[in-house]
Amino acid sequence: MQDQINQYTTEIEAFAPANADELEAFRIKFLGTKGIIKDLFEQFKNTTPEEKRTLGKVLNQFKQLAESKYQTLKEHFESAVSNQKADIDLTLPGEGFAVGSRHPLSLVRNEIIDIFKRLGFVVAEGPEIEDDWHNFSALNFPPEHPARDMQDTFFVSHPAKEGEDEASNIALRTHTSSVQVRMMESGKPPFRAIMPGRVYRNEAISARAHCFFHQVEGLYIDENVSFADLKQTLYHFVQELYGEGTQVRFRPSYFPFTEPSAEMDISCTICKGAGCNMCKYTGWVEILGCGMVDPNVLTNCGIDADKYTGFAFGMGIERITNLKYVIRDLRLFSENDVRFLKQFKTDIV
Ligand code: PHE
Repeated sequence: MQDQINQYTTEIEAFAPANADELEAFRIKFLGTKGIIKDLFEQFKNTTPEEKRTLGKVLNQFKQLAESKYQTLKEHFESAVSNQKADIDLTLPGEGFAVGSRHPLSLVRNEIIDIFKRLGFVVAEGPEIEDDWHNFSALNFPPEHPARDMQDTFFVSHPAKEGEDEASNIALRTHTSSVQVRMMESGKPPFRAIMPGRVYRNEAISARAHCFFHQVEGLYIDENVSFADLKQTLYHFVQELYGEGTQVRFRPSYFPFTEPSAEMDISCTICKGAGCNMCKYTGWVEILGCGMVDPNVLTNCGIDADKYTGFAFGMGIERITNLKYVIRDLRLFSENDVRFLKQFKTDIV
């Protein structure tokens, strides 16, 4: 038996298969269920205890040799196969991977920011959870103003601070005018800034209203700022955003924090003034509120109202987006349906 093993050992050591089939034949010959090794172990059972002592070790070593030879060669052939696969045809098209796209509201917000940046406006941001002072009082809202009502504002319940009898009003901001107050309080004029951000109002969700939406507000405070500056700035903005020739008109309006106040309409971007659903057949659509900052607001924020004047404006990004892309249901903006979102492929990164 020892002789047999020696002979097979030489054979195994010399074994150099040309392909995987030869290796498989080797496996069957030595390691298969009816193979040589199995057979040797059978023979081993019938040897004398003395022979067993020496042969046991030899036989085990022989088995390990056959197994490791087979394993090494198998790995060799497998990697050869996968290399071969990689070589097959590199000119085949690769597997595509999905590139995301910007949300339409982000696209339009960035576009608005770009236009105002070119006019020298900076971007300012502030908290979405606000106190009554920054969202209402500093902005000249009388104490009983309906906008403070529970119907419009989401109040945040919280315990009174130490030393307070009653918790002060904390709410989700209803407009980004609160950022204007923060800016005026903490700096010195001149100010020229826009405030993009999310705002919240307690409205029933439908195709035309949502409990949150996005705004860009703007503020310009300096000496001798006039309504003419306001008109020209917003006129320029509209030409940049919707194209030359878009008409604007200002209608008198009311906001507690501006005096005089106006709403600005543009000629309908969809029907170009001919009349359509979007403009309710008037040819005009309202896009923003604006006005000269009320001197009370300046005083509330520690700014000398005799020396400085300024204008402010605020627009909803959803509305501006609708006029560009004709999106008829506001809910689409927050449902995150990729079929909706992937329509807004863009080069802007
Ligand atoms: N804050 C107003 C709103 O949310 C918009 C506005 C801003 C109007 C500035 C006038 C001046 O509707």
